[in-house]
Amino acid sequence: MNIGIHDLSFATTEFVLPHTELAAHTGTDIGKYHVGIGQRSMSIPAADEDIVTMAAAAAAPVVRRWGADRIRTVLLATETSIDQSKAAGIYVHSLLNLPPSTRVVELKQACYSGTAALQFAIGLVHRDPSQQVLVIATDVSRYELDSPGEATQGAAAVAMLVGADPALIRLEDPSGLHTADVMDFWRPNYRSTALVAGQESVAAYLQSLEGTWKDYTEQGGRALREFAAFCYHQPFTKMAFKAHRHLFSTTGHDADEDRMTTMLRLTTAYNEVLGNSYTASMYVALASLLDHAGDLTDQPIGFASYGSGCVAEFFCGTVVPGYLEHVRTDAHRTIVGRRRQIDHATYRDLHEQALPQDGGHHLTPRQTTGPFRFAGLSGHKRLYEHR
Ligand code: HMG
Repeated sequence: MNIGIHDLSFATTEFVLPHTELAAHTGTDIGKYHVGIGQRSMSIPAADEDIVTMAAAAAAPVVRRWGADRIRTVLLATETSIDQSKAAGIYVHSLLNLPPSTRVVELKQACYSGTAALQFAIGLVHRDPSQQVLVIATDVSRYELDSPGEATQGAAAVAMLVGADPALIRLEDPSGLHTADVMDFWRPNYRSTALVAGQESVAAYLQSLEGTWKDYTEQGGRALREFAAFCYHQPFTKMAFKAHRHLFSTTGHDADEDRMTTMLRLTTAYNEVLGNSYTASMYVALASLLDHAGDLTDQPIGFASYGSGCVAEFFCGTVVPGYLEHVRTDAHRTIVGRRRQIDHATYRDLHEQALPQDGGHHLTPRQTTGPFRFAGLSGHKRLYEHR
């Protein structure tokens, strides 16, 4: 049975901070950001934006295009959860007027859980091919001010409609899997910023990639040379190049260096200006590839998903004939280009804002010009509205 990604759409925030602005205030050579980590700017949420508003903005065009009649499950992956109990996807379900006969659940495992959601969705569609699953990956990446991770912050949400006879990507078995108990990056419940052992996290990512590839091969997966392109998790875009080089050198495969660089660059166009969007990042890389690579019909793409802590998965998806009629290149470029630039002081103010915890009635300032907004809190309840 053909099952895979029928549609893919992403959204991001109202504001953007260029790395030139950050560099001017941290005294960092801009070459470290632009070349060393491969980042040019980062998406910053307005006071009235969060994972729900981004998720709804990403999914709304998908629901508009295909309707909601066949959606019976919403799987929302995030590590920026807004509640320990209620699934953020229920707010999205409500904002999008999805039918009540839907199951909605939230998944967590650092940046990996978007891939878990996608794999679980395949299982649900396999059981009943008349159904579709709305998979949403949505995150705001936040590190402490003035920390090494600060330059890798960002935010975005990706919505994918998963179903039978997909219009974009047919997903294949097998998957290569890898889990290890490491403390490379984590965020205890009492913190709003992540803790990270930077260099160890890079090493854990590379080791996990190796582990997934070994398992993928043992499970009877494709040979490395068969892939036309690779989408890696991109906490910063230079990481994709490190990962690719590592994969090819540890498997002893002779890489066509020029072709490799060209194809990888096509996956980084959005992430280098959005920043790390955790669960969404690898699927933003896919959007970038589909939007910029010319015709990829029938080409196998390798996906290398990584989530700190850590869980990783390698799998393959093949691009479906006719997919170019369904990509959202113009919309994606508009979403990236419409962000309003903020200065360093505004960025720091937004970063330090914390929601009141007194259970009172607090309205957020109206800042976003996006389709949905987080209007505030009342009696410990979050309020959302259409703009
Ligand atoms: P750092 O210590 O600030 O930077 O940390 P550095 O000194 O390692 O320099 C970075 C690169 O810039 C180096 O290149 C330098 O040579 C180069 P490399 O050796 O890596 O090829 N450089 C320059 N290049 C050009 N001109 C210059 C210049 N100066 C230096 N003037 C680090 C970097 C990534 C560790 C830091 O940003 C960090 O902690 N980031 C957050 C953690 C992270 O992203 N880890 C990635 C793997 S873990 C992961 O992907 C999971 C994650 O997404 C979370 C989840 O799963 O939920 C994070």
